[in-house]
Amino acid sequence: MTQVKARPTVTYQTAPRKSRPVTAERYISKDWLAREFEVLFSRIWQFACLERDLAEPGDYRVFNIGKESILLSRTNEGELAAFYNVCQHRGARVMVNDFGWVHNFVCPYHGWTYGYDGKLNHVPDRERFSGGIDCEVHSLQTLRVDTWAGLVWICMDPDTPPLLEFLGPAADRITPFRLQDMTLIGDQTVRLDCNWKAVFDNFQELYHVEHIHPQHKFMFDCPTSEVHLFANGHTGVVIDGHTVNTRLPIPDEPNPYLRMQLQKFGGDPGAYRGRVLDIRGDFPALRRAAGPGLGYDYDGLTDLHLSDIEQYNFFPNTMITVQPEDALIVRARPHPTDPDQCLWDKFTLHMQPREEVARRAGVAFKPADPKDLAPVPRPEHDEFTQDDVISGNKTMTITIDQDVHLIRDIQAGMHSRGFRAQKLCEDEARIQHYHDWLDHFLGSNA
Ligand code: FES
Ligand SMILES: [Fe+2]
Repeated sequence: MTQVKARPTVTYQTAPRKSRPVTAERYISKDWLAREFEVLFSRIWQFACLERDLAEPGDYRVFNIGKESILLSRTNEGELAAFYNVCQHRGARVMVNDFGWVHNFVCPYHGWTYGYDGKLNHVPDRERFSGGIDCEVHSLQTLRVDTWAGLVWICMDPDTPPLLEFLGPAADRITPFRLQDMTLIGDQTVRLDCNWKAVFDNFQELYHVEHIHPQHKFMFDCPTSEVHLFANGHTGVVIDGHTVNTRLPIPDEPNPYLRMQLQKFGGDPGAYRGRVLDIRGDFPALRRAAGPGLGYDYDGLTDLHLSDIEQYNFFPNTMITVQPEDALIVRARPHPTDPDQCLWDKFTLHMQPREEVARRAGVAFKPADPKDLAPVPRPEHDEFTQDDVISGNKTMTITIDQDVHLIRDIQAGMHSRGFRAQKLCEDEARIQHYHDWLDHFLGSNA
């Protein structure tokens, strides 16, 4: 195996708190989890749902995070709104389904009724409330809501900086991929037997890739990836795509995956005999030449966008992976009380080819896959257990399945008397950076 020098790490801002050992406590302690809810999730912007799911007044989504339930709505004026999903009469949950369309938000307990803007507009037997009811006071309690890239974010703290300021340059690096124009093709949640940070850590390092994702050596060059460390605990990685792992012997011919990619964009696999490492450099031109006919518009994307794959982890719990025609959003949600459990949500997005792109370019429209022409209905949310994945009943892609197989054992290790703290290598710098910022936000000295 050849040693390959990784590209230098790009550091935008180190954490105000120095690196401390990443101890087991933070993954298993109930006190730690309680502190995360008290001072982290209550203050930080969080990705709640997709804006396309709140297209019309009356559409709603419920986002449950820890013990909080947040109701997201589109008002009659077309604005997004977010409320605590708690009735101002006796505290019942107003919307018990996770999504839908309604005429009003009607509490299932005694029928207090709220508008799309959260205003209380009907109270059964109102005259029986001595002293009357002030609808302003007893409307649903609002919280901050904002959007970026077609994603809806909420924040419970009025003093937290605005969303784009908080997301910073990590968001700027994703914006050109136009997630808002992509189609949702998968919506899954797996219940994992691990702390929410254990699974998030797993998606912040590529050190494990050669060991548990052997298929990646045919597609990417992970050992040479470029790490980005941003302010507020966000991290990123840029990985050479349309290539092979250069730490291993370079094949003479493009492998089946590279052949398929080349053929999709009009490249000749035979032309790369003995020069497989040239494919990546040629890929932007191939994409730009074939794109309009395939219905893809690459305006605003650089050559590196067209050859590589980028992944950004937004503090504290959302990761977005982007390529020109695809994106993946995953999110870890803590269990309300148990540090040994979490939810891992996955939204799969795909850029549908568009005939108008070919028409504008004056070329014939020939999508690579005829299935891409059919309208895609919004997929139903599918929720399942880790054992469903391990037994093969459910899949979240082979790569994520491989991670899911392992994650329960990592959590078990955190409970062992034989484990003190993580020993991180340079390839795991993102984990240390993330935990340094976690310490900062939690005010932790642990
Ligand atoms: S608790 Fe909602 S109407 Fe009574
Ligand atoms: Fe992995």
